[in-house]
Amino acid sequence: MTVDVVTGAFSYTGRHIAEALLERGREVRTLTRRPADPTHPLAGRVDRRPLVFDDSLAESLERADTLYNTFWVRFERADTTFARAVESTRALFAAAARAGVRRIVHVSVSNADARSPFPYFRGKAETEEALRESGLSHAIVRPTLVFGPEDILLTNIAWALRRLPVFLVAGDGGYEVQPVSVGDTARICVDAGAADGDVVVDAAGPERLTFDALVRLLVRATGSRARVMHAPPRVALAVARLAGLLLRDVVVTREELDALRAGLLVSDEPPRGTDRIRPWLEEHGSELGRSYTSELARNFA
Ligand SMILES: NC(=O)c1ccc[n+]([C@@H]2O[C@H](COP(=O)([O-])OP(=O)(O)OC[C@H]3O[C@@H](n4cnc5c(N)ncnc54)[C@H](OP(=O)(O)O)[C@@H]3O)[C@@H](O)[C@H]2O)c1
Repeated sequence: MTVDVVTGAFSYTGRHIAEALLERGREVRTLTRRPADPTHPLAGRVDRRPLVFDDSLAESLERADTLYNTFWVRFERADTTFARAVESTRALFAAAARAGVRRIVHVSVSNADARSPFPYFRGKAETEEALRESGLSHAIVRPTLVFGPEDILLTNIAWALRRLPVFLVAGDGGYEVQPVSVGDTARICVDAGAADGDVVVDAAGPERLTFDALVRLLVRATGSRARVMHAPPRVALAVARLAGLLLRDVVVTREELDALRAGLLVSDEPPRGTDRIRPWLEEHGSELGRSYTSELARNFA
């Protein structure tokens, strides 16, 4: 009996991929750094192995049919670098080849590009190239901005809108995003896993909107009274850095802000996602941002 392996089933996108696989009757194993949490909805439903990039990896992938790889780092900090994340991803693909994995679904990012000025997007392009070089059957799925209850970006904007009198949008806010739901992203990944042939597909939602419009939707959804104001990007970044000091987190990096302003979280393909963000925000706005979600606590502790 084969098993599908998902990195990060106790985290964000990986959890929804694991759930989609379980719904389709697949047996699921995860690679994760998380300690066992008996209260997690997937506790006891997925086998777990450590997410470590050493010789034990091939053993962790034994009997695997498809590997769904969500592993990546949001930004560089201390020993955690994009170059290292690329090397770890290479090690994962090499172990998959040794273990006889049939197919890899690799979660990348929209507009990944080896010539990108942004290390996140360049690093993702390097992982895509490493997968092509591996010779394994594969699908590369490139999400835009993934929204869902556990998402950090929207949660923390909502959190700020609930607490602060003013919210600063960097620049004119006219740059676009094309959010895709985490459920759609998981379905696109699992469909890609079940298919054959090497493909690269975007995971994008059905509507594009400006970042400014997105923030204003969040204002309405949360019942916020904050004034949305526009500020030069360096001012918005300085305020975010100050907030980060107070929250002991990295709220947003310069690269993330610049990539957002460059409009990279959109797709030129016909959208594969069907969930619209507007009704989702209307439905979930009352819970969104009730507490702050720290990237450092979640992923760098
Ligand atoms: N979220 C978005 O809006 C978005 C948009 C476009 C593309 N993506 C891509 O989609 C994939 C999943 O993203 P996600 O937001 O759902 O990520 P996530 O669940 O927070 O993490 C994905 C995986 O990476 C591991 N990981 C995360 N940060 C790490 C760190 N600092 N050091 C070591 N391991 C780390 C996690 O380990 P644990 O299992 O131990 O938690 C997990 O296995 C990523 O490849 C990301 O680049 C996400």
